Amino acid sequence: MATVFAVGVGPGDLELLTRKAERILRSVDVILAPVSNPSEASVALGTIREFIDEERQEIIVHQFPMTSDKTRLIPAWQEAAALIASHAQEGRSVAFITIGDPLFYSTFIYLLRILREQWPLLPIEIIPGISSINAAAAEAILPLVEGDERMVVIPATAGINQITSALADYETVVLLKVKPLYAEIIELLRKTGREQRTLFVERVGSSRQKVLTDFSEIAAHTPDYLSLMIIK
Ligand SMILES: C[S@@+](CC[C@H](N)C(=O)[O-])C[C@H]1O[C@@H](n2cnc3c(N)ncnc32)[C@H](O)[C@@H]1O
Repeated sequence: MATVFAVGVGPGDLELLTRKAERILRSVDVILAPVSNPSEASVALGTIREFIDEERQEIIVHQFPMTSDKTRLIPAWQEAAALIASHAQEGRSVAFITIGDPLFYSTFIYLLRILREQWPLLPIEIIPGISSINAAAAEAILPLVEGDERMVVIPATAGINQITSALADYETVVLLKVKPLYAEIIELLRKTGREQRTLFVERVGSSRQKVLTDFSEIAAHTPDYLSLMIIK
């Protein structure tokens, strides 16, 4: 049985990929890349394009719908897990690539659960990646936490009440998936006087990167899915 690797490819800048990730990506037989929309390119795959040897390696782009509807998600997870397991059982090593880190709000976590449950003997290795949070803080030269400070990470989809209480309780609040709740978040940041303490970062590490600290620019911006905020 071959090994299944979950490889974090970092936020989108090839130079932010680990040497271990590069070695494994060059060596595996199959690379499985997630996309949420079939008409969109996989960001993870785009990041590692130059490592791929299409003559030798099989590249599979698998669609995972961007929804919280479990009746659509579970079949996509199950199908991807079965595909990964069948390659590995036939002796072909597989790398599931993921933006940032594979154990940090990644689709791989769901696949991992299924693989462990249904194919418990399958060897699995995780290659950590630089998460979007670290890359965003580095771009803005913004210390995330120091000394006794505490930081909380909230997918904004958790709701505005969670964000409100996090802002009251923690020195640093990181908001992921800000797009669907953007207007409410902007309103909350105004109400709680965080205008001078908010960083907005979109597509960090890519040629489309945007780093905004001016609150009027942040408020006027229309974010895309790959956007986060760090509020001190
Ligand atoms: C499903 S989570 C994936 C997190 C990823 N595994 C990581 O370690 O960064 C997706 C969210 O991460 C954030 N994100 C991921 N990549 C990003 C990037 N290149 N620039 C800004 N935010 C990013 C966005 O908030 C996005 O909605």
